[in-house]
Amino acid sequence: MTAKKQAPPHPSGDERYKAIDRTMKRFKYQKDALLEVLNAAQETFGYLSEELLFYISQQLHVPFARVYGVATFYHMFTFEPLGEHNCIVCAGTACYVKGADYIARYLADAFDIEPGGTTPDGLFSLTMARCLGSCGLAPVVVLDGEVRGKETAEGITARVREVVAASREHLQEEAG
Ligand code: FES
Repeated sequence: MTAKKQAPPHPSGDERYKAIDRTMKRFKYQKDALLEVLNAAQETFGYLSEELLFYISQQLHVPFARVYGVATFYHMFTFEPLGEHNCIVCAGTACYVKGADYIARYLADAFDIEPGGTTPDGLFSLTMARCLGSCGLAPVVVLDGEVRGKETAEGITARVREVVAASREHLQEEAG
């Protein structure tokens, strides 16, 4: 496999692009590093904008449609900024049979959003995943990176209310 020639850095000068550049450099700009590069981009920016996907496509010399196709295939990538708190409900088979659907609906109703949505104040997002790889703990949800197994709709909703309320208070304090 031949390494590709490096394209110029992102013209915006946004420092975050340098983190992506470093990942691409580590993999010698090879096309099969696409997944690692997408991961680095999501970790750095929090979500994958069209501009980011286009930049990666250019840098790795991979057609935009392919970059977009890979990004949309994997559940861990998101394409809009998430809320300050994010709850991922696993909708894989094991979790589904243990009531994941009910948990997602309960959370969605509690915060008046749809799965995949973010509250208007930007404090909470609800996302769905295919399988989080902890099927023995079904139903599984992940709140702000914390894996919570054998979760209940009421339990996770109460916890989300707490963290959202804490953020709201913090914002109000800052606003004086
Ligand atoms: S199906 Fe939910 S963790 Fe695997």
